[in-house]
Amino acid sequence: MRTYLTPLRKIRLMCGIVGYVSKASVDNADHSALDVVLSGLKRLEYRGYDSAGVALVTAGGELETAKKAGKLSALTDELAEHPLPAAQTGIGHTRWATHGGPTDANAHPHLADGGKLAVIHNGIIENFAHLKADLVAEGVEFLSQTDTEVAAAQLAKNFQTTGDLTEAMRVTATQLEGAFTLLAVHADAPGTVVAARRNSPLVIGLGEGENFLGSDVAAFIDYTRTAVEIGQDEVVTITPDAVVITDIEGNEVQGTQYEVNWDTAAAEKGGFASFMDKEIHDQPQAVADTLLGRMDTDGKLALDEMHIDETVLKTIDKIVVIACGTAAYAGQVARYAIEHWCRVPVEVELAHEFRYRDPVVNEKTLVVAISQSGETMDTIMAVRHARQQGAKVIAICNTYGSTIPRESDAALYTHAGPEIAVASTKAFLSQVVACYLLGLYLAQLRGNKFRDEIAAILTELQAIPAKVQRVLDEDKEQVLALARRNQDVDSVLFLGRHVGFPVAMEGALKLKELAYIHAEGFAAGELKHGPIALIDDGQLVIIVVPSKRGRDSLHAKVISNIQEVRARGANTVVIAEEGDEEVREFASEVIYVPETTTLMAPLLTTVPLQIFAMELATAKGLDVDQPRNLAKSVTVE
Ligand code: AGP
Repeated sequence: MRTYLTPLRKIRLMCGIVGYVSKASVDNADHSALDVVLSGLKRLEYRGYDSAGVALVTAGGELETAKKAGKLSALTDELAEHPLPAAQTGIGHTRWATHGGPTDANAHPHLADGGKLAVIHNGIIENFAHLKADLVAEGVEFLSQTDTEVAAAQLAKNFQTTGDLTEAMRVTATQLEGAFTLLAVHADAPGTVVAARRNSPLVIGLGEGENFLGSDVAAFIDYTRTAVEIGQDEVVTITPDAVVITDIEGNEVQGTQYEVNWDTAAAEKGGFASFMDKEIHDQPQAVADTLLGRMDTDGKLALDEMHIDETVLKTIDKIVVIACGTAAYAGQVARYAIEHWCRVPVEVELAHEFRYRDPVVNEKTLVVAISQSGETMDTIMAVRHARQQGAKVIAICNTYGSTIPRESDAALYTHAGPEIAVASTKAFLSQVVACYLLGLYLAQLRGNKFRDEIAAILTELQAIPAKVQRVLDEDKEQVLALARRNQDVDSVLFLGRHVGFPVAMEGALKLKELAYIHAEGFAAGELKHGPIALIDDGQLVIIVVPSKRGRDSLHAKVISNIQEVRARGANTVVIAEEGDEEVREFASEVIYVPETTTLMAPLLTTVPLQIFAMELATAKGLDVDQPRNLAKSVTVE
C-alpha cells in the first residue's frame, strides 16, 4: 500500500515581499503603488523565483490583483496587456518555490473575504491543515493547496469578527504556528497595509507621506534609506502618515530606526560585500529552514514528497549517493551517519563516473541524488542510468521543479533559499542536514533506532543553527586575519579523519575554486602513505580535529598526524572543538568551534574553511561570486 507521510506542505522561503502606501493622489504622485511594488520586486530579482504577483487597493475601495508564474517579466507583460487601475496602496510578492508547483494558482497574492482581502506570505504555517479543516467545516472553499490561502481565510474570518484589519492580523498571528511574514490589504481599508512576522524577515521603510514594507531593504532602497527593524511576533500597520507597531498582545512597541548606508548593489546582498559572504551568513537560517516542518505533531520525522513505498524503503540493501563537487562531499559526510544509523552500506559515487563503472544497482538499491541546482547534467544522466537499472531514486535538491527531482521517485528539498554565488556554501550545510533527515527517517522506518535516540539526534541538529551563528560571530575575524596573512601561499593541504575527511576535501575545493590556489584534502591517515613527501618547511596544513569525546582514539591519531607534519616543518592550523587544550602545543593557530556530536561536527568545522577561502580570494582581488572558468550549474556532461 502506498502510504504518504504527510500532506504536501507549501514551503516558501526567501521570497521577495514589498508593501507600499502613499497619500499622494494618483494624478500628481511621483510614483504609483504599482511602480514602487514592481521596482521593489525587481530589486529582489537576484533571488530567483518562480512566480510573481501584486495586489492594489484603489482610493475608491476596489481590490485589483495580477499574478503570473515565471519571471517578473511575465507579470509585467501581463500587466501591459491587462493594466490595473491606478492606486496608491499595494503589495507584491515573488515566490521561490520549494514545494508546490510554480503555477499561476500557487502564485501570491491569495484572496479571501469574497475577493476583498489579499494576502502575501513568506514562510511555513505548520498548523495550516488543522486551520483549514475548521474553515472547510465552516463552508470556506479553497482554490489552492497552499498554506497562504488558509492564512488569508483565517484573517478574513477574524476581520469579520473584529472589523479592524490590524486587530484581525494580530488575532491571526496568535492562531498560526510556524514561520511567517504576512502582508495584507483589504478593499474596505484603502491606504492601509497590515503585516505580521515570526521567524521570517520584514523591515519598514519610512518616507514623506508614504511608507514601505519589504523582506529586506532592497525592496524600497530606491525611495528611502530610513528603515525600522521589526521584532519577533510583532504586527505592523502602515498608512501614508503613520507606522504603528504592536506586540502580539496588542501593546504598542517602538521599532529600531536606522539609516541604510549601503549602495543598491550591497542592499541586494543584504549589506554584505558579496553573495558568498551573505550566503555564508545565511547558513544558520538555511539549516533551521531545512529542519523546519520535518517532524509531525508527535515528534516523528515526516518527510514531504517521500513518494516511495515504506515497504520498498524497508527492503533496500544498499544506498548509493550520486553527486558532483561540493554536493558529493555532502554525500561523503552523510555516508558516515547513514551507515552508523541504518546499518546499510552506503557508497558515494561521483555522478560522472557512476554509469561508466557499470555499477551493481537494482530494485533493492536506493539512490540518493544530491544537487543544489537540480540541473547538473552528470547527475541527471546518473539518475537516468540508476532508474533504468531498477533503483529507486530520492533527489536532495534546493531548486523546486528542476530536472533531477522531476526525474526522481521522490524529493527531499533543502530550504537554503537561492544560492547565487557559484561556490556552494549554505547548500552544502543544507544538503548534509537533509541527508541526515533521510538517514534518521530510514532508521525510524527500519527500526534501527528507537524514537528517543532519534529525538536526541534531532535535538542536537536543532541546536546547530545557533552553533553555526556562534562560529560566524566568534571565529570570523580570526579566520579573516589568518587568510590575509596567507594570501601569498601557493598551496595548502587540508587533513581530516572520519567525517573530517570530506570536510577537508570541501575546504580544499573552496580554496581551489575561489583563490585559484592548489589545495588538496587528504584523509589524515593517508599522509604517511605518500603525500607526506609534499611537506616542506612552512607548508600550510589545515587540520580538522575530531572531538575528544568522539570515536575512540581518533583524536589521538589525528594529533599524531599533526606531529608528523610539524616535524617536517609544516605550519599547522587546527580546527578543533572548544575546550580541546591538547591541540594547542601542536598548532601554530587553533580555531575553536562549539562542542557538538561527532556526526554534527562537519556542520561547524566547514564554516571557517569557507570563510578562509573567501577572504584569501578577496585579499587577492578575485571575484568570489563569479570565479573564473566556473558556472553555477554545470548543465553539460
Ligand atoms: C561547489 O562550490 C561547486 N560550485 C560545484 O562543485 C557544485 O557543487 C557541483 O557542480 C554540483 O552542483 P549541483 O549541486 O547544482 O548539482
